[in-house]
Amino acid sequence: MRQQFAEPSYNIFRQLGFHSFHTRPSSPEFHLPMTVDSTSMPTHSADSQGSNVAGTDKLWGGRFAENTDTLVEAFSESVSFDRRLWRQDIAGSTAHAQMLTHVGVLSVAEGQLIVDGLAAIGADIEAGRFVWQQALEDVHMNIEAQLTARIGEAGKKLHTARSRNDQVATDLRLYVRDAIDELAVLAQALADVLLDLAEREADTVMPGFTHMQIAQPVVFGHHMLAWREQILRDRARLLDTRKRCNVLPLGSAALAGTVYPIDRHFTAAALGFDSVSENSLDAVSDRDFAIEFCAACSLLMIHLSRWSEELILWCSPMFGFVKLPDRFCTGSSIMPQKKNPDVPELVRGKTGRVIGDLTALLVLMKGQPLAYNRDNQEDKPPLFDAHDTVAASLRVFVAMLPNLTVDAAACRAAAAKGFSTATDLADYLVKRGLPFRDAHHAVGSAVAYAVTKGCDLAELTLVELQRFSPLIEDSVYAVLTLDGSVSARQHWGGTAPAQVRAAIARARAR
Ligand code: ARG
Repeated sequence: MRQQFAEPSYNIFRQLGFHSFHTRPSSPEFHLPMTVDSTSMPTHSADSQGSNVAGTDKLWGGRFAENTDTLVEAFSESVSFDRRLWRQDIAGSTAHAQMLTHVGVLSVAEGQLIVDGLAAIGADIEAGRFVWQQALEDVHMNIEAQLTARIGEAGKKLHTARSRNDQVATDLRLYVRDAIDELAVLAQALADVLLDLAEREADTVMPGFTHMQIAQPVVFGHHMLAWREQILRDRARLLDTRKRCNVLPLGSAALAGTVYPIDRHFTAAALGFDSVSENSLDAVSDRDFAIEFCAACSLLMIHLSRWSEELILWCSPMFGFVKLPDRFCTGSSIMPQKKNPDVPELVRGKTGRVIGDLTALLVLMKGQPLAYNRDNQEDKPPLFDAHDTVAASLRVFVAMLPNLTVDAAACRAAAAKGFSTATDLADYLVKRGLPFRDAHHAVGSAVAYAVTKGCDLAELTLVELQRFSPLIEDSVYAVLTLDGSVSARQHWGGTAPAQVRAAIARARAR
C-alpha cells in the first residue's frame, strides 16, 4: 500500500528542487557502511603519528601544530551517520546565506554564489556523486569545504555569524520536524485502517479479557476502536512535540550569540520555524525536543507492541481468533507445519530498541552543563534509529491489518466460555430489586455450582438458577446470551454494536 508523505513544510527545499524528504535509508549514500572505509573516505592525515606542520589543513587548523591522530579522527567523526542530515544542512545554510545577504554582511553576488553552490552540492549528494571525507569530520564541514572548493572565497564567508553548534541544532530540529510530519501521516493511515476493520467486525462477538481471563463479551470492532484511540493519542503527542521543536536556534552561534547584525526572524521564516529561540545558551545545548520525540515514539511502539502481543495470542490455535495472511508470516526451517507471526513479534521486539533509543538520549543529556558539549554528537544514531523503526513498524501494520481474517465463530465460541455473562445476571437481579453486592454473591455461588457441574450458566435449568435467587425467572435466558450482553451496553463508548457504529460514524464525520 502506497502512502502519501508530507512534503517538507519549508520553502528552501522546494527552491533547491530536492526531492521530498526521505529519511528512510533508501538513497544510495545511506547504504555506505557505518564504519568508515578509508578507501571511500580519503583522510588528510597521512601519518598515523600526526605530523609537526604548524597550521594543519583542518578548518580549525590555525591553532594546531599537528594533524589529528588517525585514531582520533576515526573515533570522533560523525559523517558516517550525520550525512543523513544533508538536506537539512543545505536548507539551513541556504537560509543563513540569504539572511546574511539581506542584512548586508554578504554581497548579493556572494550570496548567490553560495546559494547556487549549495544547490549544486545537494544535487550531487542526491545523485550519489558526493565523496564524503572522514577527515572533514561531519556533514557540516564536508559540505562547507566542498562549497569553498567549488566557489572559492565566497564559500569561506558562509560560516560568518554561525557556529556548528547552532548549525547542528538547527539541522536536528528540521529533521525531527520532518520526521514528525512523516510519522503523523503514517499514524493517521493506521487509524484509518483500524476504522475500516472496526466497521467490518462491528457485530463479531469476542471475549473481552481482564487479567487475561475471560471477563465480558465485547465486539471485535470495539477492540479495534480501542487500538485506534491509542494510535490517535500517539499522533497527537508527536504533533504536540512539533510545537516545541519548531523553534529556530540559528543565530545563537557557539553559545553567546554573534556580533553581526543578523535578522533571525528572516531565517526563521525562510525555514518555516514558528519562532526564534529566546536564549543562545539553551538553544545550542538542549536536545529535549529529540528526547520528547523518542518518548512519543516509545509510547507509540508500546502500543504497537501490546497489539502485537494480542495478535500473536489470537493467531495461536489455542485462540484461533484471527489469521494473518501467509505473506505476512514465515515458516520454520525444521517444523514443516509452522506458520509464525513474525511481523508482530518483530514489532514487539523492536519496541525494546526504541525504548533503548529514548534511554540513550536521556542518559546522554543528564550530566551536561551548559552549553554545547561534544556528547551531543551521540544524539543522532538513537534519534535516527527511533524514527526508522517507528516508520517501518507503522508501514507494516498499515499493510497487514486490512488483511487480517477474523474467525467470528471461534471468537463467539470463546466468549461463550468462562461465564462471560455473569455480570449481566447480577445486573438482572439488581434490576429486580436486589442490592448489587447481594446479586454479586448470588451469581458467584451460581458460577461455583456451574463449575462443579462443568457447564455454563445458560445451561443451568430455571429450577437450578432459582436456588441462588428466587427473583430469577424465565426471562433470564435472554440476558445470559452473548448478543444480549453486548447490545445492553448502550451508551457513548460502550461495546453495543449500535454504539460501535455510532463511534465509527463520529470518527468518519471528523
Ligand atoms: N558533529 C557535531 C555534533 O553533531 C557538530 C557540532 C560540533 N561542534 C563542535 N564545537 N565540535 O554535535
